[in-house]
Amino acid sequence: MIRILPYKMIETILQKGTFTREDLIELLNAEGEERQLLLRRAAEVKEAEVGNVVYLRGLIEFSNRCAKNCLYCGIRYDNKSVHRYSVSDEEILEAAKHAYEQRFGSIVLQSGEIVSPAFTKRMERLLQEIKKLSDGELGITLSCGEQSEETYRRWFEAGAHRYLLRIESSTPELYAKIHPNDENHSYQHRVDCLKLLKTIGYQVGTGVMVGLPFQTVEHLANDLLFMQNLDIDMCGMGPYIEHQETPLYEYKDSLWPLQKRFDMTQNMVAILRIMMKDINIAATTALQAIDKLGREKVIRTGANIIMPNITPGIYRNDYKLYENKPCTDENADDCTRCIEVRVKLADNDVGFAEWGDSKHYKKKKRH
Ligand code: 5AD
Ligand code: SF4
Ligand code: FES
Repeated sequence: MIRILPYKMIETILQKGTFTREDLIELLNAEGEERQLLLRRAAEVKEAEVGNVVYLRGLIEFSNRCAKNCLYCGIRYDNKSVHRYSVSDEEILEAAKHAYEQRFGSIVLQSGEIVSPAFTKRMERLLQEIKKLSDGELGITLSCGEQSEETYRRWFEAGAHRYLLRIESSTPELYAKIHPNDENHSYQHRVDCLKLLKTIGYQVGTGVMVGLPFQTVEHLANDLLFMQNLDIDMCGMGPYIEHQETPLYEYKDSLWPLQKRFDMTQNMVAILRIMMKDINIAATTALQAIDKLGREKVIRTGANIIMPNITPGIYRNDYKLYENKPCTDENADDCTRCIEVRVKLADNDVGFAEWGDSKHYKKKKRH
């Protein structure tokens, strides 16, 4: 019997136009030389399809108030030891102006999940003001969780054109294990929101955490297929990092070692780049919590978006979704300077003053 060498097998899979679930599992498990082959292929696809350019999204974590209770998250509602904050309108506008002046091209406004008519109105007004202060030039992404159709529409009309809403895990059974079992944490509702955002016209981003308790490589393969089926425009994936003040902390001893969570995230990004060649993929901050050069490594092997933290310094330490979160005691200027050096270190250029929209989205629109 002829045994196919692992190297050959990965090579054969990489030559295919589409991957089956079994192919994805093989690719995710690749190690050593085989894994290097995967990473090299992702780097080639990135260069050919989106170029070695990284676009910036100045991230403003404008409030850590959240009505939800995700079992993994450090700022969940039930964590009473968190000091809750809300950045004022003036400070948000100031940060947006800073991003515009630094020629970032885009910002992301992120918060915990707050649902109220007052919040909808406030965001609508802020979006209009940010558009005004930047002559319509600053691109705006929102990441404010599950909202009503009306709210999503109003924000879109006020100038937001991208929305990030991670599915966290696309396997309903795993989703149910990492969220409370109530109607406020419904898998189906999350999927419906993603579809709604697409219908309204947003460029839609989703993503998952890698290395969750109870998560297997099969789950991760499902996640990649989910993103392909949903035909997403953007993706942000990061390693799961346990937080002491959360219910999932009790499973800390059953987790993959940090290095494996990092490598698996890098594999996920590389495979997704090969599967969905022209989407935007972020090198997420959580990668840097494990490896000081984590974001640079993932930029080299597929990612093309980075999100410098421009939250006003005094609030940064309170947006701790996970432990060891980097960039929590700098001021906005430090991250800005640091990021350009980091992108250059990864032999990429920064796409200053450009929206850097998902090429995938633009192609879909043309058809
Ligand atoms: N480890 C890693 N990522 C986390 N997030 C929340 N908690 C954690 C954690 N403990 C991620 C979720 C969420 C995003 C804003 O932060 O994926 O969607
Ligand atoms: Fe709230 Fe998001 Fe944390 Fe869930 S992950 S508790 S929605 S901030
Ligand atoms: Fe935040 Fe370097 S990116 S300090």
